[in-house]
Amino acid sequence: MRTQVGIVGAGPAGLLLSHLLALHGIDSVVVDHRSREHIVARARAGVLEHGSARLLRAAGLGARMDREGIEHGGIYLQYDGVREHLDFRDLTGGRTVMVYAQTEVVKDLVEARQAAGARLEFEVADTRVDELDSRHPVLRYTAADGVRHEVVCDVIAGCDGFHGVCRPSIPDGVLRVFDRDYPYAWLGILAQVPPSTDELIYAYHPDGFALHSLRSPQVSRLYLQVDPDEQLSAWPDERIWEGLRRRFALDGWELADGLIFDRSITPMRSFVAEPMRYGRLFLAGDAAHIVPPTGAKGLNLAIADVTVLAEALVALLRDGRPELADAYSDECLRRVWRATHFSRWMTSMLHRAPGADAMREQLRLSQLRYTTASRAAATSLAENYVGYPPLRLD
Ligand code: DHB
Repeated sequence: MRTQVGIVGAGPAGLLLSHLLALHGIDSVVVDHRSREHIVARARAGVLEHGSARLLRAAGLGARMDREGIEHGGIYLQYDGVREHLDFRDLTGGRTVMVYAQTEVVKDLVEARQAAGARLEFEVADTRVDELDSRHPVLRYTAADGVRHEVVCDVIAGCDGFHGVCRPSIPDGVLRVFDRDYPYAWLGILAQVPPSTDELIYAYHPDGFALHSLRSPQVSRLYLQVDPDEQLSAWPDERIWEGLRRRFALDGWELADGLIFDRSITPMRSFVAEPMRYGRLFLAGDAAHIVPPTGAKGLNLAIADVTVLAEALVALLRDGRPELADAYSDECLRRVWRATHFSRWMTSMLHRAPGADAMREQLRLSQLRYTTASRAAATSLAENYVGYPPLRLD
């Protein structure tokens, strides 16, 4: 078998890359070891930056997002008994974010790719990527029906996430890796209850961080900080709601509760592997970098990576121009490091650190007060939150 771009991973990065390439007449094969049902059902983050939403629209993928997504012009920061609003429209010259779940983006992408007759293979096994430093890297996998395939490619895109096979296929000594764990995790729930807020609330409380997000007028998405080794079984529904009520408590405001129908615990880490390329293998999304979830940058970085990569691969494969492909890693890493810093900054400002002393607590509160009181500080948070640098769209 032959294709121009072999894509490992049918998450948002791999599917969107396949879609963007197809718009320019470049063909691809997408393989994933997971089932289609699993991929479209996983509850993940839900905030699209201004540029991500524009990109999806420009790529013809915005119809349902614009019908069902919820545009937000700001967030609330809560601490020390106050809840302050940051107005992104005002602070960033009119930019906003779109609350639309990653799950929905993936559903739209799978549907668009399948409707276009794309080669999309789920439940494959024993995926390998070989001959990466040759002009024709090879993607090998066993399809769901048990047949082994060998796809000769011009380029392979590793969009297979942090635990995927692509990054470890790069020879030792090529990548420089940066890695940090955090002493906390998020317990996330989806609940059948109208959101108790019009925009997201990021709350710092001495018990720990809490986030009130939403999915629709009927469904709320909530998170609370827990220890990284915490088990879901230790958190019956009433303990979750009680924890959330305490952390969001504010005079004159009440958190409505409802049926919890999805729950999970997410560990947190910062990870960057550079460069995001080896020979004719290009890494994109979580395969190359992970950010802690605070600020919702993970999906947006994946979208930004493949937007840059699609343009670079069109220039390389259609026009024979390698310059953009050669610049791919550096261009992406500038954004990746900005988001890595922002996510870490938001995380440390909003989470209770085990063993933090009184001095650290006072510094945290001072930072929160400054971020909400100073227009300069608020603008810095806002421009990072809506996406920095703004995604370049032609
Ligand atoms: C959501 C997740 C985030 O990490 C965040 O910062 C904001 C919202 C969410 O799932 O809705």
